[in-house]
Amino acid sequence: MKRTTYAGLINEDYLGQKVILQGWVQKRRDLGGLIFIDLRDREGILQLVFSQEFSTTALAVADQLRNEYVIEVQGKVVNRADNAINPNMKTGKVEVEIQEAKILNTAKTPPFYIQDDINVSDELRLKYRYLDLRRPEMQRNLRIRNGITRAVHSYFDANGFYDIETPFLTKSTPEGARDYLVPSRIYQGHFYALPQSPQLFKQLLMGAGFDRYYQIARCFRDEDLRGDRQPEFTQIDMETSFLTAEEIQSYTEGLIKQVMKEVKGIDVQTPFKRITWQNAMDRFGSDKPDVRFGMELKDLSKVLADTDFKVFASTIKNGGFVKAIAVPGGAANYSRKAIDAYASYVERFGAKGLAWMKVTDDSFSGPIAKFFKDDFEAITQAMDAKPGDLLLFAADNFKVVSDTLGYLRKAIAKEQGLIDENKYAYLWVVDWPLFEYDEGIERWVPAHHPFTMPNEEDVHYLNDGEDPHKAHAQSYDIVLNGYELGGGSIRIHTRDLQEKMFKALDFTKERAEEQFGFLLNALDMGFPPHGGLAIGLDRFAMLLSGNDNIREVIAFPKNSKASEPMTNAPAEVSERQLQDLALFVTKPKD
Ligand code: AMO
Ligand code: AMP
Repeated sequence: MKRTTYAGLINEDYLGQKVILQGWVQKRRDLGGLIFIDLRDREGILQLVFSQEFSTTALAVADQLRNEYVIEVQGKVVNRADNAINPNMKTGKVEVEIQEAKILNTAKTPPFYIQDDINVSDELRLKYRYLDLRRPEMQRNLRIRNGITRAVHSYFDANGFYDIETPFLTKSTPEGARDYLVPSRIYQGHFYALPQSPQLFKQLLMGAGFDRYYQIARCFRDEDLRGDRQPEFTQIDMETSFLTAEEIQSYTEGLIKQVMKEVKGIDVQTPFKRITWQNAMDRFGSDKPDVRFGMELKDLSKVLADTDFKVFASTIKNGGFVKAIAVPGGAANYSRKAIDAYASYVERFGAKGLAWMKVTDDSFSGPIAKFFKDDFEAITQAMDAKPGDLLLFAADNFKVVSDTLGYLRKAIAKEQGLIDENKYAYLWVVDWPLFEYDEGIERWVPAHHPFTMPNEEDVHYLNDGEDPHKAHAQSYDIVLNGYELGGGSIRIHTRDLQEKMFKALDFTKERAEEQFGFLLNALDMGFPPHGGLAIGLDRFAMLLSGNDNIREVIAFPKNSKASEPMTNAPAEVSERQLQDLALFVTKPKD
């Protein structure tokens, strides 16, 4: 028998027609001599009716059906009785009277219901991922992801980009994470690194004259996982020759416009707003600001320079910052206990406290209000605060203040329902510093990656005797609703400058040569000016499907501990395999 169409697509257009359908039993209701089966496939759910009236053999089959049995049926599409119409179902006006039915496979009772909004652990969902993926919301998530990749291919094709693959077994590309390594059997003791991104290869493709490249590329990074990070993830990766940063951004906007139209039916306005990195940090305390709501950070360091409140006074005297956010209507909504809970949370950003005041008609209230009796006008004006607002203050160095208030701004907006969840706020963050200080390893690292071109007027900072950390870069991030969706830059295309960059990163000449000699040589052989960008496909799909974890848009993701509960990867391997690779595993002591 050949299937007519998907069960979930049957509607009034099929009335009176004989249809053949295949799918899974969602639910069975036995009314004695009359059995209703909800049949599910990837397009939706459809009601089947089995009755002696239509076929006794089919009714006998229906009698044996249990959830998740796979069946094939043939029957006639009819109108449901008026009182049986289900307006919540796409197929809710019709049902199918079954004349023939066949069980294609049976099923054990699944460990959870195949339906949306199930309340089971993520671990169980991942262990039975094939069942989890049967659920309508997961089918929808992957459909959205597929919609994005379709649009990506057609956009790049229409714009003359070549889709070119780059290797997985390669040499380390530094994107700032730890590499996944693959031992070589032939060269024992040598390792391939899985690519953290196609970065160097796509640059070399520009050196090779391809001019416009894109790839939907898998990337591998051994880093701490979060909701928006997986050890393997996918980039919409592109690179171009002879274009300016603005032109590359404009291609990216075109891509996003097409995706938004095809996947969401939304016309987004381009060009997107641009904000400098400094401005983003100053106003939002974040390099990936969510601009769907206000509550911007205000710098009170000048206004409060002469304050009697010691915590603030000493911070300002020592060159630190006192900044604050005004939570609209927060005076009534936040108890001392709730503020204390936030105060302990922000300790993780290095905050030493969280001072607060409530704004009344003509004064402040709260334990520290007494210090600011004479500053009411100045503070409320600087904060643009109104009676009923809650002011939250952080006093510390720029980073701690930014992280603390940047976090609070987002958490409180979410809690207070200040965010329009239907909005897609795209934003370019531009003019990044070339380097940033990594507190963890106590070293300067590239803010983007070591192949990023400094701003033209800043190139001299890389010369001997100057401070390279003052340089800003021709790099740009595309931000969506507070997430870093993608990032890119104009690249260095001359050997001289690339060598200076490595030097600024404390590479010896020998180490630079050993690790990146192939790139340095290539730059010597007629390399075009070039630049590009990569968008995180998983994050894009997550945001367009309204999820807050990229696991929801990846068919077979890892759990938060980087393992995969269904296959149990990573796993031990046989002694034989280790011997082939000349590897010896020292087991950690229990
Ligand atoms: P970058 O490292 O900024 O740039 O990565 C680009 C985008 O990839 C996504 N992303 C991730 N998604 C899920 N899990 C992860 N662990 C993860 N890490 C990154 C983010 C990010 O914005 N080669 C450069 C791009 C370029 O310069 O062209 C690069 O990889 O959405
Ligand atoms: P204290 O004088 O230490 O009792 O602090 C008074 C108030 O200031 C408390 O609400 C503290 O949480 C807050 N506070 C202390 N240090 C800081 C800081 N560095 N930034 C913001 N608030 C602080």
